Amino acid sequence: MYLRLIKSLKPYRGKFLLAITCMLFYSIFSLLSLGTIIPLLERVLGENETAAHQEIEPLPSHTDQPDCDVLDTADRSLIIQARQAVDEKMVLFLERYDGWHLLAVIAIALVGFAFLGGLCAFGRDYFMFYTAEGVAMNMRSILHRSLQSLSLDYFTSHRTGMLISRSTNDVKLVESSISIALANLLQQSLQVVVFLIAIFIFIPWQLALLSIVTAPFIALPIVKIGRKIRYISARSQEKMADIYSFIGETIFGAPIIRAFLMENYEINKFQNENKEFFNVIMKLAKRQTGLSPMIRLVATLGGVIIILYGGWLVLEGALSSALFIFFLLLFASLTGPFAKLSNVNAMIQQGLAAAGRIFKIIDTYPTVKNAPDAIPLPRIKNKICFSKVSFSYNDTEVVLKDIDIEVKAGETVALVGPTGSGKTTLVNLIPRFYDPTSGSIEIDGYNIKKVTMESLREQIGIVTQETILFNDTIYNNITYGRKDVSSRQVERAARIANAHQFIAKMSEGYQTSVGDRGIRLSGGERQRIAIARAILKDSPILILDEATSALDTESEKLVQDALRKLMANRTTFIVAHRLSTLRDADCVIVLDGGRIVATDRHEESQKRRANSKEWQCL
Ligand SMILES: Nc1ncnc2c1ncn2[C@@H]1O[C@H](COP(=O)(O)OP(=O)(O)OP(=O)(O)O)[C@@H](O)[C@H]1O
Ligand SMILES: [Mg+2]
Repeated sequence: MYLRLIKSLKPYRGKFLLAITCMLFYSIFSLLSLGTIIPLLERVLGENETAAHQEIEPLPSHTDQPDCDVLDTADRSLIIQARQAVDEKMVLFLERYDGWHLLAVIAIALVGFAFLGGLCAFGRDYFMFYTAEGVAMNMRSILHRSLQSLSLDYFTSHRTGMLISRSTNDVKLVESSISIALANLLQQSLQVVVFLIAIFIFIPWQLALLSIVTAPFIALPIVKIGRKIRYISARSQEKMADIYSFIGETIFGAPIIRAFLMENYEINKFQNENKEFFNVIMKLAKRQTGLSPMIRLVATLGGVIIILYGGWLVLEGALSSALFIFFLLLFASLTGPFAKLSNVNAMIQQGLAAAGRIFKIIDTYPTVKNAPDAIPLPRIKNKICFSKVSFSYNDTEVVLKDIDIEVKAGETVALVGPTGSGKTTLVNLIPRFYDPTSGSIEIDGYNIKKVTMESLREQIGIVTQETILFNDTIYNNITYGRKDVSSRQVERAARIANAHQFIAKMSEGYQTSVGDRGIRLSGGERQRIAIARAILKDSPILILDEATSALDTESEKLVQDALRKLMANRTTFIVAHRLSTLRDADCVIVLDGGRIVATDRHEESQKRRANSKEWQCL
């Protein structure tokens, strides 16, 4: 997963490298501005001392060396050269300027370093944000794309709030784990490296070594608590998903909540959820914030040892006091990064957990997909056959059992039966919203599992039981899925669907926005727009899931009339809740408990049935 997250940085590697370069320079400028303390102490403040020290100062470091050389000549020689070069420069520098002059130069240098450092900080933050936001943008896109490709069963088995939380909150976590956490991690590590190099160059090696021995002690609790944090973070995200789901329901369910006077009940329920989320988050905060002081304590303990040893070296004359103070400054600035690393680790753990959840959705394989050797389905000519089709949503409850249906092209089949008998489920198998658990559906002898989904769905027009409109104009809702149509064709479809009149009466006509899910239209108006959409699609197979909601007689007549015109010359499956619909059907199939209990092809017996008990349940 680490690797995969790093891979997602790839498109932004240029910006990322720029950010790292800025970080490196930032560390160098911080070092340099700390370094200005040396001449300041050597000369300006310690005027009396300097004369003596200037002579001695280079010496102790050299007298130090023989025993180091014994240890490792090759490695040390480079460091010695570097130190000598800096020492010589320093001596020259100190000789060239007198007191006030030197002070001014130091002041200017300080401002200069601060300015350059600031510039680098700006570059670093800007490029890191660019990278992080870029990764987040890509992730959202990929996530959205995979949501589009997932089969419908995924959406019925996963909560909406969870999916929204993944695409918003989790992406945000990944983003900040890069823009803040990764940025900090790299910056602090670079700073540590640069400072350690400086320490090794200027400070006797025993002291330098001592200062890095403390590091593992600091790192230990970070790793340990990090794991715990990742676990709690996952739980907090679960809770966040609950909250998203809840808010969604509050909005969609508003009319029912008001009507049933359940506002207080909902408020209390939400408060509980909210409180639980709060508790989990506080647990997380405790772990995160507790870590930092702990590390500071360990670092201070390490610091005490170092001060004792360094102080002894100064007393012994093995180290100049200016260098010792410089070293203390460096060491103090090193504990900062370590303490920060703990927070950074927590954030990175959270980001990784979030990325894991996102990748899980991205990696979900659609259950309904094109067969590898799928061929395009030719336009229907003969018939649609269901043979021995059974279906179950969850492998335990059988929703459809041994369904055999044969429908000739151009015929209309009406499906009737009590609520929950499986009518909607049955018609949903035709466009392959779900695949049958067993048995097969064939169109002109082609098993629909063996043809491409595009060529199959292209031939099917659907008006669903619950009308689905998008928050867009009426025009765009009617032309949904078709780009190559003229406004005349749209108007014609709307006229056939008996929708033109009410659309024309609206202030903005076809450009009127329908609101979320078409909320600004009446139920009958929404249905007629959905019918117009199916008319415009002009597909040879039609699936009409008649809405159970009662319309007034006038709208019902208009909708019925629209449907009748739509069904002409098409192979139609209509889920009928109204007797009037049945009259137009060539065949009536009665479902009960997922089985076909009667099939009727004769008009006379249809009428007889229409009056019999079986229909009363409709
Ligand atoms: N996504 C789903 N997951 C699990 N079970 C489901 C799902 N959708 C429907 N069911 C179950 O399948 C059965 C058939 O549902 P279906 O929607 O096909 O009935 P229907 O005949 O269309 O009913 P209605 O006349 O009320 O529209 C029901 O018992 C229902 O509980
Ligand atoms: Mg239904």
